[in-house]
Amino acid sequence: MSEKRKLLQRYMRNLSDLQDELKRKELEKKMKELEMLQAKLARRQEQSGTKCAGGKIKNLRQKNLRKVLGKYMMTLEGFLCELARREARLNGDRGRASESENLPHPQMLEEYTVAFCAVGEDGRELLEAALSARRCAYAPYSKFKVGAAFRAKCGRIYAGCNIENVAFTPGNCAERCALAKGISEGEKKYTAGAVVAYHPDGFTTPCGVCRQFILEFIQNDIPIYIAKAPPPEQENCIPSIPDEAEVLVTSAYHLLPHSFNSFE
Ligand code: THU
Repeated sequence: MSEKRKLLQRYMRNLSDLQDELKRKELEKKMKELEMLQAKLARRQEQSGTKCAGGKIKNLRQKNLRKVLGKYMMTLEGFLCELARREARLNGDRGRASESENLPHPQMLEEYTVAFCAVGEDGRELLEAALSARRCAYAPYSKFKVGAAFRAKCGRIYAGCNIENVAFTPGNCAERCALAKGISEGEKKYTAGAVVAYHPDGFTTPCGVCRQFILEFIQNDIPIYIAKAPPPEQENCIPSIPDEAEVLVTSAYHLLPHSFNSFE
């Protein structure tokens, strides 16, 4: 970068700092003026009371004025906060991501763990459907069998398993298999999901691709129930999740926060 350009950039920065400072001073002055006005109004209101017939109308007008002033004060306070934030950022201070106005902050469901027997009926039904679907998993390469199930808005459950391929890339996860079944039948919105697999270390949570895929077909956040299933080779004819098994109740937004969701 040329020296002139650098210099110009520095001047521009200084200028914008000065502008911020000026705005801030102006706002602070306005705030003080408003506060004084409010106090004056309150005093007048007290003095006038309800003595004369016109008193009531006068009071009403003053009340309205106070309301409007209150609103202005709030806006000004907001401006001041924003200015302080900008100043802090320019000084290199770290801001909380949760306070950023450039990030969406969708309403997230709670995330917790609970014993299988204490999971609500909706979740238990989904976990059992996922476990049942896992029996059909086609995983000759990884030997890692996964089952998933999603409840469509209409209430119907669609379950699926992972399907691998000798060429690897065409392989499909259980989650997308389950959703694809429902979507291909016209069900475009889902209210809950479940994933089961056996890994000695713990829960199997959806891969990144599946997380993005799930987000495409939900309206708001939805619960995702995850349980460690019994090892497939130990599975008898009727697979089941023990009552005391720990279930992770997470959610679509917890699994993929700050997701890409619009290019418009
Ligand atoms: N897999 C799933 O089906 N779902 C997941 O949530 C994680 C991984 C499958 C893909 C592949 O067939 C095998 O598990 C091993 O990665």
